[in-house]
Amino acid sequence: MIKLSDIDHVQLGVEDLDSAAHSWQMEFGLIEREREGGSAFLACNYEPYSLVLSKTNTPGIVYAAYNLDPEFSLDDAEKHLKDHRIEYRRTEQAVEFKDPEGNGVQFVPYRPHRGQDVFPRTSRYTKDLHQAGPRRLGHVNYLTANLKQMVDFYVDIVGQEVADTLGPDAGAFMRIGADHHVNAFVNTGTPHFHHLAFDLIDFGQIRSSFDHLAQHGRWFPWGPVRHGIGGNLAGYVRLPEAECFVELYCDMEQIDQHHEPREFPDDRHSSNVWGMLPPRSYFRFDKETIDAERESLRSIWQ
Ligand SMILES: [Fe+2]
Repeated sequence: MIKLSDIDHVQLGVEDLDSAAHSWQMEFGLIEREREGGSAFLACNYEPYSLVLSKTNTPGIVYAAYNLDPEFSLDDAEKHLKDHRIEYRRTEQAVEFKDPEGNGVQFVPYRPHRGQDVFPRTSRYTKDLHQAGPRRLGHVNYLTANLKQMVDFYVDIVGQEVADTLGPDAGAFMRIGADHHVNAFVNTGTPHFHHLAFDLIDFGQIRSSFDHLAQHGRWFPWGPVRHGIGGNLAGYVRLPEAECFVELYCDMEQIDQHHEPREFPDDRHSSNVWGMLPPRSYFRFDKETIDAERESLRSIWQ
């Protein structure tokens, strides 16, 4: 058995490290803490870092890292994986392994992460935080071809719990603590990392961020929406350079430790209580789809 504390950080591979690091600072409001080897370490707030960008020829997610509960050490994590016959690699700072669809997962030691390890964020002093950056990294989301296998793995091996499901087999939302989810799976039949999501303060900050991102040439294939499942207000920015989306959200449902998973109907309302389901392009990452999406070609009346 293993117990987690929170999501810690995500590593994304990008071809142009300078350009990506610049974008994450200028567009999304993160700060670059340090550059080491071929990697840039970026933070939302007072945490050491929430995002690692690494230079690669194969863009996309490298891994998602989760903090262990303070009662569990890296040695415990190593033993847990060994007991379950999972191949892993131990480094000084982490234990890393792959899920059944090849996505990287890391266990890292506990660290206070919510920007409130000493005092609440707003009562601290800073000389380097950017105006209007996200509060924190909140969750990751994967498209999957085998929902049950992935859910079982993330429960038994990674140490997450099912928060809720979308229908019996359309999707599953996984939790660690009070946030409705730190991870989710959507059963589309084709495995692919879909998005990493950052928590913003409120709808006002979402508005400012969307306006700001649009001025940098970014576009939002879906949103703003109010999710029925999870309850968050959200919008999704296409990030072609890392073959995924970035979700900016606020107001996620908080659930208690006695929560029982619910099965939400697999319908439009569970995805977006206000209206539309996402366009088909929302689940695709090829260049032709991205070009058509950017120009809204599927929406033009002709
Ligand atoms: Fe999400």
